[in-house]
Amino acid sequence: MNELTWLKDVLPGKPFVTVVRLKIKERKRSKVNDPYLRLVFEDKFGTLDATLWNPDLERLEEALRQGETFRVEGVGSSYLGKRCMTIKSLAKVPEDPWVKERLDILPLGRKHWLLARLKDLSLKIENAYLRKLIVVFLEDRAFMERFGHAPGGKEIHHSHEGGLLEHTVSIMGLCVKLKEHYRELSLDLLLAGAFLHDIGKVEELDPDHEGTYTDEGRLLGHITLGAMMAEKRMSKIRGFPKSLRSVVLHMILSHQGAYEFGSPKRPKFAEALVLYYLDEIDSKLFQIKEFIRQQGGEDDAGPWTGYNRWLGRYLIRDVARFVSDPSQEESSLATSLDAVKREPSLFEGLSG
Ligand SMILES: [Fe+2]
Ligand SMILES: [Fe+2]
Repeated sequence: MNELTWLKDVLPGKPFVTVVRLKIKERKRSKVNDPYLRLVFEDKFGTLDATLWNPDLERLEEALRQGETFRVEGVGSSYLGKRCMTIKSLAKVPEDPWVKERLDILPLGRKHWLLARLKDLSLKIENAYLRKLIVVFLEDRAFMERFGHAPGGKEIHHSHEGGLLEHTVSIMGLCVKLKEHYRELSLDLLLAGAFLHDIGKVEELDPDHEGTYTDEGRLLGHITLGAMMAEKRMSKIRGFPKSLRSVVLHMILSHQGAYEFGSPKRPKFAEALVLYYLDEIDSKLFQIKEFIRQQGGEDDAGPWTGYNRWLGRYLIRDVARFVSDPSQEESSLATSLDAVKREPSLFEGLSG
């Protein structure tokens, strides 16, 4: 098993053998209407696309299930400047602990830490009603089981197992930092809103078939589902104030910021607006980091990534290489100052 290649190390023209998980399977058609399967495989360090053209496409499509693990033999290739792979053979392998360790981005230890951090941050909420609402979720074992495993999305950001938990804890941590700077904000609202904003993803995405939506998910979406889940709990908490209920629901409904981004309401108070921006920051930064990671190192590919269709742009892999070395800058600055000092007329003119 030692000779297995990580997807990030698959290079055009080089043969490889690997064990990977099928993350996305899509049936598509070429410009001349020929059907093909777009497959995206993943391991701990990245993902890689493959295209399958096969006369027996329907049988293959049936046999390949998202979320299952495969031993893949193939050759690295490239299409429109993007690394991909050509598959020679594909065999299903059981997902035993060794395979899981190889494929899961979020190690078990980190997941336990994130769950503990989620609880710690939740317990900073002082408002009795909001605290009760969040505790109801934390004590719901079935919910927490799914919340701890769910991805943060299908493909765009945090799409790995445990991604939703990672994204939620990250935003709650940012809420605490922002409250230190903008002291007038309500930390209670920020933390409760951050905890709840994406809970609908637990019901939107199918836990048994990775990368696919449930019927409810397709019909209602995670914003509506999340609002319904929160509403169900709030209605059972005796005396939960009507006005606070509206505020909580508003934070869930407005967290995507604009109608065109899928929010039925735009943020109408500061904490809701902050939640929208923190959600944007956390998801966009993850997309950038993940995209650069998947595209491989700079040595073989130059400073720019390929085109990122989600962000609609090319990205610089490591901007530090575009920033001048400060020590060199200092010495060149010193040299030019020396030159200025040697020019008495200029120097005197400036000081005068
Ligand atoms: Fe969301
Ligand atoms: Fe989110």
